Amino acid sequence: MYVCICKGITDKQIQDAVTARKSNNPKEILKALGVGSDCGSCVEDAVKTLVEAAARTPFEMKDSSTNS
Ligand code: FES
Repeated sequence: MYVCICKGITDKQIQDAVTARKSNNPKEILKALGVGSDCGSCVEDAVKTLVEAAARTPFEMKDSSTNS
């Protein structure tokens, strides 16, 4: 689903950017994708999509196997 019509950015692209950059920083992710840089009407939905994607992304999985 398109989040930013002006730049043609989908929710999947935002999710992929969160995963690839291991970041939930809206400024960084949205700026990198160009989201909100035209009319700006998508920013609220884009940030919501980003926060939801970040909540599902296991950034710190490497510490989960400390059992010895
Ligand atoms: S819809 Fe994203 S900048 Fe216009």
